[in-house]
Amino acid sequence: MNQSTKKLEIFKLFKKSKKFSIKWSSYFQVYEKIFSKYKNKKIKFVEIGVANGGSLFMWQKFFGKKAKIIGIDLNPNAKKLEKYGFKIYVGSQSDKNFWKNFYKKEGKIDIVLDDGGHKNLQQISTVHYSLPHIKDGGKIVVEDTSVSYVKKEFYNPSKYSFINYAKNIIDIIHRRSPLLNKNLNFYAKKIFFVEFFESIVVFSIDAKKCFANKQVKNNAKNEWAIDYRHNEYFRGLKSKLDREYGLLNKRNFFRKVTRKLFYRNFLFNLLDNFKIKKIFKEIQK
Ligand SMILES: C[S@@+](CC[C@H](N)C(=O)[O-])C[C@H]1O[C@@H](n2cnc3c(N)ncnc32)[C@H](O)[C@@H]1O
Repeated sequence: MNQSTKKLEIFKLFKKSKKFSIKWSSYFQVYEKIFSKYKNKKIKFVEIGVANGGSLFMWQKFFGKKAKIIGIDLNPNAKKLEKYGFKIYVGSQSDKNFWKNFYKKEGKIDIVLDDGGHKNLQQISTVHYSLPHIKDGGKIVVEDTSVSYVKKEFYNPSKYSFINYAKNIIDIIHRRSPLLNKNLNFYAKKIFFVEFFESIVVFSIDAKKCFANKQVKNNAKNEWAIDYRHNEYFRGLKSKLDREYGLLNKRNFFRKVTRKLFYRNFLFNLLDNFKIKKIFKEIQK
C-alpha cells in the first residue's frame, strides 16, 4: 500500500467503517481530489452498489452530517441499512424506469457514484439516465472501468464497452466548437469535462459552462506575428526570403504561391503522419 494513501482521511474512514467493503487502493487519492470540495456541504450523494454498506458509512463521515447519502442496489437486503440513516432504493441501474421513478422522488442530485454491477449496459445506463438530473457543479463517477478490457464475464473489449462510450463523449464535447459545425445534444449541453483515471471516469456537469464556443479578440492591435504552423519543413528558406526580400510578410501574390507550395502542401502532412505513426507505435508497447 502506497504510504501517502495511508495518510488520506478518506482511506482512514474506509478502514474504520463498521461494515465490510473492498475498494481498489488507487481510488482513495482520486476521491480526495474530486470530492474534497463537497465536504460539509448540503449535498445529495448517490452510490450504486451497496453490498454490505461499508462504503456508505465512509461517505457519510467524509461528507459530513449535512450530506444525504443514498444507496441503490438490486439486492433487497440492502434495505436493512436504512436503520443507520441512509436512504436505500432497490432496483436495477440498467432499468430506464427505475431511474425515472428514482429522479421523480429524489429530484436533482449532486454526485452519482457507480460501484454497481460494472457491466457495459449498467455503467452506460447510469450516466445516460442520470445526466439530465445532475446539478450544475455536480459529478457522475464510474468505477471499475478497467472491466472494459476484460473478456471473462464482461465480454470486452467491445465496440459497446463503457470506455468506448466515454471516448465518444470526448467527440461530443468538441461539438461545442464551431469548427465541427454539429448540433449540440444534451451531452454536449451538460458535460463540461471528463477526467480519465486508471479504472475511474469522472463526468463533471455544468450546463452554464457548455455554451457554443466562439473566438474572441482582445483590445490590442494585431501587429507583426505570423502563424508559423506550416513553416516546419522550410523554415530556412522562409527566413531567407523574409530577410532578403521581405516578401513573405506581405499579403501579396508571391506569399500566396509560396504558402501553397511550401506550407500547406499535403505532402508535408504525409510526412507528419509518418512521424506520428512512429510515436503511436512507441506508446502502444
Ligand atoms: C462491488 S459491490 C458494491 C460495494 C460497495 N460499494 C462497497 O464499497 O462496500 C457491487 C454491488 O452492486 C450490486 N449490483 C449489481 N448489479 C446491479 C444492478 N444492475 N443495479 C443495482 N445494483 C447492482 C450488487 O448487488 C452488489 O451489492
